[in-house]
Amino acid sequence: MSPLDRRRFLEGLGKSGAALAAGAWWGGRVGYAAGKAGPARAVVQRERYRAELDRRLLGAFLEHLGRAVYTGVYEPGSKLADGRGFRTDVVAEIKGLGVPIIRYPGGNFVSGYNWLDGVGPKDKRPTVIERAWNSLETNQFGTNEFIEWCRLVGTEPLLAFNLGTGTPEQAVAYVEYCNVPKGSRWSDLRREHGYERPHDVRYWCLGNEMDGPWQMGTMTAREYGRKARDTARQIRVLDRETRLIACGSSNTNMPTYLVWDREVLEECFDQVDAISLHNYYGNTAPLTGNDTSRYLAMNLDMERQILEIGAVCDYVQAIRRSPKRLWLSFDEWNVWYRARGGRFANGQQTFAPHLLEEVYNLEDALLVGGFLNTLLRQAARVRVACLAQIVNVIAPIVTSETSVLRQSTYYPYAWALKYARGRVLDPEVEGETYPIKAEGLRPDFARDDLVPYVDVAVTLDPQNGQACLLMLNRDVESERELKVDWRDLTPSRVLACETLTGSDLKAVNTFEQPATVAPRRLDPPSPGSSMTFKLPPRSYSVAHLATS
Ligand code: AHR
Repeated sequence: MSPLDRRRFLEGLGKSGAALAAGAWWGGRVGYAAGKAGPARAVVQRERYRAELDRRLLGAFLEHLGRAVYTGVYEPGSKLADGRGFRTDVVAEIKGLGVPIIRYPGGNFVSGYNWLDGVGPKDKRPTVIERAWNSLETNQFGTNEFIEWCRLVGTEPLLAFNLGTGTPEQAVAYVEYCNVPKGSRWSDLRREHGYERPHDVRYWCLGNEMDGPWQMGTMTAREYGRKARDTARQIRVLDRETRLIACGSSNTNMPTYLVWDREVLEECFDQVDAISLHNYYGNTAPLTGNDTSRYLAMNLDMERQILEIGAVCDYVQAIRRSPKRLWLSFDEWNVWYRARGGRFANGQQTFAPHLLEEVYNLEDALLVGGFLNTLLRQAARVRVACLAQIVNVIAPIVTSETSVLRQSTYYPYAWALKYARGRVLDPEVEGETYPIKAEGLRPDFARDDLVPYVDVAVTLDPQNGQACLLMLNRDVESERELKVDWRDLTPSRVLACETLTGSDLKAVNTFEQPATVAPRRLDPPSPGSSMTFKLPPRSYSVAHLATS
């Protein structure tokens, strides 16, 4: 906004506007201006961009949990499995999505996992009682199968160490097994197992949610920070090219939130590249007051968490007078609130139990779209992020014995993967807002605020001039317009324009009715330097444009 426009805009605001201008409004922190009634407006300029998009921002997660691995990706004996036991329908789905990176093997699972149990001849691998989810783990699928599967679906592995019950020595041996070409104990063991060439795994998580009392081997921030430092130091001796991610707070509701992150980084800042963030969201009484309008604003809570953890990284960097800027790995995020706790999380010592099988509806999918917008907007800081998870367990795709189902949340994720490329632009956005109330909500989600009805993220691929707009309309009652003014580039053709919407926010897809929540064509405006999109009520939409 020019200074003159800004003055006029501020003059147009009432009392609440004055409070907003004084900085009480969260939207301002993430690049929004509150406007008057009427169309939202986005001014887009080619050279005003936030970040080059690292595709790893659109990653996913596969944990040994429930039916994620067994009967999800691996089901020997199934008519749908290939010679290695991989479900071909699931391979096709994930390959088709183009997921850039997948985190494995956990999650809570990893904190009790002995990676050696899952390598070598399958008939020699032990069946163990897995203690995070109280399930039977046969170890028939392990690191080498995962790497083979990654190559098949065209994704990059992101492996996690067990820093719960495991030791730094076991973690270093794991890196040696995966990455050292030959001539040492663990690298030669890999070769003995039939993998002559190293797996060359770049990205590694130093444990999982070590601040959580539910975590095997949970410890204090200082203890964990020292263990992470020790592990990281030894790993760097073996392989200087690894990217190491320390465990940050498990969620914003932890009593140690931010203090944990500061203390951990005070111990291991010099040895790590990034710190992790996790969060799961839901439309529940304590989180949203069961109010969809509040629910659809939760991606702004994610955005706040990113800025807060980023601020902790900057603080520790400044205290250490370090030139190194840490990046963030939001390596678990999703909607998850129905299939949680109790029987949903207890496998009763059975094999491949039905755990965390969340059924997603339309409003969940809209919010997932919002999360993707947030991650894109924050791509300068968040380099890796993982939708948790990818199949059967809190996942966009679900298997039966005979087929695979796309849940509602599949679609926004698929659009971001397909169309968001190149650079994340930094449009100037202004638009009408609605109020949300703090009263009665859990402290980390309790805030009085104003939320823009329209949320937009824009990318531009400088290679081919193609732009992508991802647009959330949070207005559950009415259509909203978004007027996009293109300043130094002009759309010449609409390549795709689709929307996900419906009259029933609670509608879901089932194996019997798999297309209840599915995209439909959205009438696009004519391409040109000014384009007004008509966004249906309660919708998430995408436009893919060729520009000149
Ligand atoms: O993704 C499900 C679980 O949620 C993961 O195992 C854990 O890291 C988180 O608490």
